[in-house]
Amino acid sequence: HRHLLGIEGLQPHEIAFLLDEAERWVEANRTRDQSAQPLSNLTQINAFFENSTRTLLSFEIAGKRLGADLVNMHAAQSSVKKGETLIDTAQTLNAMRADVLVIRHMSSGAVKLIADKVDCPVLNAGDGRHEHPTQALLDALTIRRRRGSVAGQRVVICGDLLHSRVARSNILCLTALAAEVRVCAPSTLMPPAIDRMFVTPYTDFDAALEGADVVMMLRVQNERMEGGTIPSPREYRLRYGLTPERLARAAPHALVMHPGPMNRGVEIDSAVADGPQSAITEQVAMGVAVRMACLDVLTRRTRKVEGWA
Ligand code: CP
Repeated sequence: HRHLLGIEGLQPHEIAFLLDEAERWVEANRTRDQSAQPLSNLTQINAFFENSTRTLLSFEIAGKRLGADLVNMHAAQSSVKKGETLIDTAQTLNAMRADVLVIRHMSSGAVKLIADKVDCPVLNAGDGRHEHPTQALLDALTIRRRRGSVAGQRVVICGDLLHSRVARSNILCLTALAAEVRVCAPSTLMPPAIDRMFVTPYTDFDAALEGADVVMMLRVQNERMEGGTIPSPREYRLRYGLTPERLARAAPHALVMHPGPMNRGVEIDSAVADGPQSAITEQVAMGVAVRMACLDVLTRRTRKVEGWA
C-alpha cells in the first residue's frame, strides 16, 4: 500500500503487522529510546483542514520522535481561507517535495483526492464521516494490550454512528480481527448500511451492554447534524449515557474507551471516564506509537527499505 486512507482494503495480517510495529514504538517511548530515527532527512507535512487536538499533536510528536523535518499547515491561517481549492493546495504541498503528508479534512473522500494528486505517501487523519484509520488502529492496540487479544472480545460501540468515521473504521478493524461487535444508537443516528457491516445493531443500550468486554463511547457530533436533529443532552444521557449503573451491566473487567473529545455528562459520566475501568488516557498514549508505526512503514519505499505489502 502506498497510502493509508482507511482500514477498508487492509487484510487482517496487515492490520496485525501495523499493531506489532506499534508495539516496538510503545517500548521505545516507555524507555525514552530515540536512537531509531527512520524519518531523519524526510519532510512530513501535517495539513489539518478541520480542528484536532489528539490526532494533530500525536502525529507531530510521532514525526519528531522519528527524526522528521516537520511542518504543520493550519487551514485557518492558510490560503484555503482565500478560496484556494483542495487540488491547488495539494499541488502546492507536492511542489514543496514533502516525503509524507498527514491530512484531516471535513469532507469524506477529500484525503483520497489529495492522495491521487501527490507523489508521496498520504495518511488519512480523519475525513468527514468516512474513515479515521489510525484511531481504529490505536483502539485495537489498546484492546489487544489490555485484553490479550482482539479476537473474541465482545465490543459495544455506542453513540452517533451515523456521523462517526471513528465508528466506521473501528467496525472494519475490529471485525477484521474477529471481535464480536455490537453497535448501539438511537434509530435516527444508526447508519442505513449497518446491516452490511457484520455487527449486531441495538437501540437499547442496556441490552447491548450485557456481558460486554469493551464499551466504546462516541461523541454526539452536533457540528455534523442537519438542523433540527440534535438530541437534547439530558434525554440523550438518560437513554445512551454511560453511567456507573449502566456500566455494571457489562463484564466486571470491561474496558471503557472514548476517542475524545468527550461530552462529559452527555454520552459519558465523569465517574466512568475517570474511573478504574477507563482506558481513555492509554488510548492517547497508544496513538503516538501507532502513528510512529504508520509513518515508519509508509515511508519505507521512499527510504528503499522493505515495505509491508
Ligand atoms: N480522536 C480524535 O480524532 O481526536 P481529535 O479530533 O482531537 O484529533
